[in-house]
Amino acid sequence: MAKPIALAADHGGFELKEAVKAHLDELGLEYIDFGTHSTASVDYPDMALPACDAVVSGQCDKALLFCGTGVGISMAANKVKGIRACCCSDSFSCEYTRRHNDANALCMGGRVVGPGLACQLVDLFLNTPFEGGRHEKRIAKLMAIENR
Ligand code: RB5
Repeated sequence: MAKPIALAADHGGFELKEAVKAHLDELGLEYIDFGTHSTASVDYPDMALPACDAVVSGQCDKALLFCGTGVGISMAANKVKGIRACCCSDSFSCEYTRRHNDANALCMGGRVVGPGLACQLVDLFLNTPFEGGRHEKRIAKLMAIENR
């Protein structure tokens, strides 16, 4: 059985997370929602950490993360060992961050991306495989930076 998707957002991304949840429900895809659960102000690193830990531990397959811009929560996610997070608002970057970077966390901004585009990007992110090949050694070098 497929592993669930990890979801997390701060207050700036809460509404977009809820829209993506409805989309995942329609698709019948499982997820774990690590919060936040309202528009009350929270700090995006606190929200990113449990969702990213769930990916690294193997509990979840990939993470979908949301804040106001998508940038802050992507910075937080990329501090977690084993996470390759990409902040995306266009389909080309979203497709190629899977094909070439084997990204395991997609970050989007609730104040940047509308729900329709966000759901399209989610589909692209979840359905595009990593190409491997020449990209394998680049990913290995990227991940080795974590061990300096
Ligand atoms: C919160 O106001 C906002 O700073 C946050 O959601 C995010 O955009 C940070 O990168």
